[in-house]
Amino acid sequence: MPPSATSELGMPRPTFHFRCIECGFVTLSAAQDFRCAECGNLLEITDPGWKSHSLGAAGLKSIWRERRSSNLPLDLSGVWRFRELLPAPASERHVITLREGNTPLYELPQSSRSTGVLRLYAKHQGMNPTGSFKDAGMTVAATFARQAGYSWVACASTGNTSASMAAYAARGGMRSLVLVPEGKISWSKLSQALDYGALTCQLRTDFDGCLRLLQELVRRAPVYQLNSINPFRLEGQKTLALELLEQLDWQPPDHIIVPGGNLGNSSAIGKALLEMRDLGLIPHLPKLSVIQAGGANALVRTLREAGGKHLVSVQAETRATAIRIGNPASWQKAVNVIRSTGGACEQVSELEIAQAKAEIGAEGIGCEPASAVTLAGLKKLLQQGFVKPDETVVLVLTGNLLKDPDFTMEFHRGDLFKGTIHERESSSLNPFRHTPIVLDANLDAVIQTLEQAEKSSPIT
Ligand code: F0G
Repeated sequence: MPPSATSELGMPRPTFHFRCIECGFVTLSAAQDFRCAECGNLLEITDPGWKSHSLGAAGLKSIWRERRSSNLPLDLSGVWRFRELLPAPASERHVITLREGNTPLYELPQSSRSTGVLRLYAKHQGMNPTGSFKDAGMTVAATFARQAGYSWVACASTGNTSASMAAYAARGGMRSLVLVPEGKISWSKLSQALDYGALTCQLRTDFDGCLRLLQELVRRAPVYQLNSINPFRLEGQKTLALELLEQLDWQPPDHIIVPGGNLGNSSAIGKALLEMRDLGLIPHLPKLSVIQAGGANALVRTLREAGGKHLVSVQAETRATAIRIGNPASWQKAVNVIRSTGGACEQVSELEIAQAKAEIGAEGIGCEPASAVTLAGLKKLLQQGFVKPDETVVLVLTGNLLKDPDFTMEFHRGDLFKGTIHERESSSLNPFRHTPIVLDANLDAVIQTLEQAEKSSPIT
């Protein structure tokens, strides 16, 4: 009898391999730094079944939809539900899941009106279990760490990766080591790592310095690295795009706009889009555009000044600390997916980020500053005519509003740009601020405040 294509509970059999993105070298196992043994570039994961699956496009769509009514742990995960397009663990028992994915696709009616884009959506990855898109990749990579028998996992992080890794390590019975730049990550993210039990080191350097140190560490100590250099992370993050297309009934939007930091997420979404097209799941590709903070614009400069041929790194500085990265590891993968999908790469200013974040908040959704670059970037791409108002646009919101309360409070109190070069210009943001008002506990005072508010901004 021929071996069946699936093992227990429909988990596909492991048939994936690693391939170098530069020289195409193929290997069945990867070293700890996940770099090609021949040329040193990054590896990606691939599987022959992802180009032509025996179920066919219609069969895959139907099995993924059916699983939404199942109560099996693997099916309840918005990542493992799409397991036919993921590297398969040797056994389902290795899987560490917190029911990640299954994130909402929201309409943005107010931003739609202000930008003129009638079909404008936000795919909110901040609604994941630890509040960011990292969980979709972490469930896969942590699973393979456990399968390989590691007792320690480690990452360098601007905060979200560390929060996510610490949670999945704890759930999977592994210990976690977190390297974060001291003073440059939000308390909210740091507190998550502590609560989930990570050994947390605040290094006197930036994110790029933390990542460099981690690369040396994994060569010397038996720890498994869970940064997005780890290609298993990107495989999990592909499911953002699969779930999005399923939510759009497999009608591709014209544009997907994503923030760019270390550039793992854009690479993962692009990889998923290309695989979906090859499998016939979608008829054509959306354009994938990457937006960076102007103070952390390595990819923008790499494309503009070096034609995408070599990385132009920068000394990163932005209040959107999640993307305060000057030397992005996956820059080449990101260049490839922007080019293959016909997308753009833009940068936005600190003021534009703050305004866009307030606008997303006013939709009753909210996000962290790094996610807001997408709306700010959309406005630029509209001005340039790259996005047209009658096109369908999806913004990928990567992190939850609660991830960076200091930013939000400083913004609404009017302190965010105090003492910076943006201080004068920042008065343009006043209409978006909602300042907290301290009053005596007196009914008249509250009613008077209510009446004043009604006069100054009546609900229309
Ligand atoms: N948005 C948020 C909220 C992030 O936390 C990150 C990255 C990005 C966007 C950029 O994604 O790196 O895949 O291009 N955060 C990482 C971290 C670096 O350590 O949490 P990317």
